Amino acid sequence: MIKLIAPEEMIHMRTVGRMMANLLNACCDRVRPGVTTGEIDTFARAYLTTLGDGTACSGCLGYNGYPGVLCISVNEEVIHGIPGARVLQRGDIVSLDVCGSYHGYYGDNTRTVVVGGAKAATTEVRRLLRVTRQSLETAVKAIRPGVHLSDISYLVEKTVAEGGCTVVREYTGHGVGRHLHEDPPVPNYGKPGKGPILHEGMTLAIEPMVNLGKAAVRVLSDGWTVVSRDGLPTAHFEYTVAVLKDGAEILTPWYEVDPWSADWMKS
Ligand code: MF3
Ligand code: CO
Repeated sequence: MIKLIAPEEMIHMRTVGRMMANLLNACCDRVRPGVTTGEIDTFARAYLTTLGDGTACSGCLGYNGYPGVLCISVNEEVIHGIPGARVLQRGDIVSLDVCGSYHGYYGDNTRTVVVGGAKAATTEVRRLLRVTRQSLETAVKAIRPGVHLSDISYLVEKTVAEGGCTVVREYTGHGVGRHLHEDPPVPNYGKPGKGPILHEGMTLAIEPMVNLGKAAVRVLSDGWTVVSRDGLPTAHFEYTVAVLKDGAEILTPWYEVDPWSADWMKS
């Protein structure tokens, strides 16, 4: 069942959305050569306690036993990478997936950044990042009441295919509100004109997971980390959005003031 957020409740979704976006930004600012993913996790844990009245919680920590405050997935790791001793190196691409709750509402957002900035990545990896980001932005721009959910899914897939990359099919976006994962699932592929129709008050996590090579993925023996089967790099961008009368409101607005986002779009 798809649960709606009433207009007077939306303030809570905006609040937690901004908190999670700020946390994601702060974690991205800590991505640099020599830093371990565990150090970023430790930072995130402390940062959460500084938000609002101090009761903000990670949505990852303890979720089916997941041990991290956030997910950090490097290079061929698609999602659910566990923070630890791995030392980040110049040119690595790092997906930071930050979700959490505040006063009973959840926000969820992700971005992939390059260690050392966009110039440290190959042209191919920059294309992967650009295409993934564009697929998210294109999908979000198409969101408004009355469109089918699968119209959004279709747009993601189309944008990714036109950019010469592939969509991961085993994992999807999702409704998000009073729980981290709610109906409906939001696949990143599909035929237009199918599935639920979007209504004002729906809140959704839109999150294309995109591979540079083939679409196939597998789960590592840690039971969590999802990697591309061919070992090629993979990217992930995510916003939590609200469906409003005139279109989508991005509830997790990241800053655009980092050196990466300015450079991706240029190729
Ligand atoms: N943010 C992730 C999502 O969209 C949540 C990961 S939960 C974890 O589903 F346990 F895997 F971390
Ligand atoms: Co999500």
